[in-house]
Amino acid sequence: MSLPADIRLPEHIAIIMDGNGRWAKQHHVPRQSGHAKGAEVFKTIAKYCESLEIKALTVYAFSTENWSRSETEVRYLMKLFREYLDDAFTMDSNSRIRFLGEKSRLPEDLLALMKKLEDDSSSNDGMVLNIALNYGGRAEITGVVRKIAEDAAEGRLSVGEIDEQLVSSYLYTAGLPDPDIILRPSGEKRISNFLLWQCAYSEFIYMDVLWPDFTTDMLDEAIVEYNKRNRRFGGR
Ligand code: FPP
Repeated sequence: MSLPADIRLPEHIAIIMDGNGRWAKQHHVPRQSGHAKGAEVFKTIAKYCESLEIKALTVYAFSTENWSRSETEVRYLMKLFREYLDDAFTMDSNSRIRFLGEKSRLPEDLLALMKKLEDDSSSNDGMVLNIALNYGGRAEITGVVRKIAEDAAEGRLSVGEIDEQLVSSYLYTAGLPDPDIILRPSGEKRISNFLLWQCAYSEFIYMDVLWPDFTTDMLDEAIVEYNKRNRRFGGR
């Protein structure tokens, strides 16, 4: 499938990369293999979004709740992040990489790599690639409330200045349009603490496919579906 010429492209796509574990079970392989295949698909989809000239792609790689998985699985995921992030976006990419989430708790060497990728890609002028890693929507909003309270208490801000725009400017996604599409493969129909503030007017697209089986054609399908939706932003 290729997209029709008159298609309206979303500016910002957000994806909950779900179903790696179930894919592994279906294929009678360890959960790790599901994540490894998921990481390959992440790379393919990110490159494809770059080629479509999408303004921003945000992927949910690791949530604040994912620490409750087994130590082996968490360790493996951290290893995958190191490998894929280093390999996938240092070469032949014009994307700006940003990490959304709490920097605490992540291994030192991964933090150093994340910082290097953010710094090295900061002057690129292509797609913004947001990787939500140790991210939780409630934690993000709580952090914003704390920061605004501090700024107000220390006189950098007056309470009267606090409005929706100001709150948005304190989020990890400051300066970016909110996601037009939030895509969740795997058949689950939940937001799972992802971009809670930013999703206010997003179109939710749920697809019955496990993330490791997700293809660029399926992303095209999601964009076509988005074009069928009539976005009113609360108006008539
Ligand atoms: C959810 O599937 C997926 C995750 C918790 C990890 C997502 C990570 C990747 C796709 C790896 C690569 C990412 C980058 C940025 C290199 P699940 O394990 O919850 O699946 P299940 O619900 O079927 O068990």
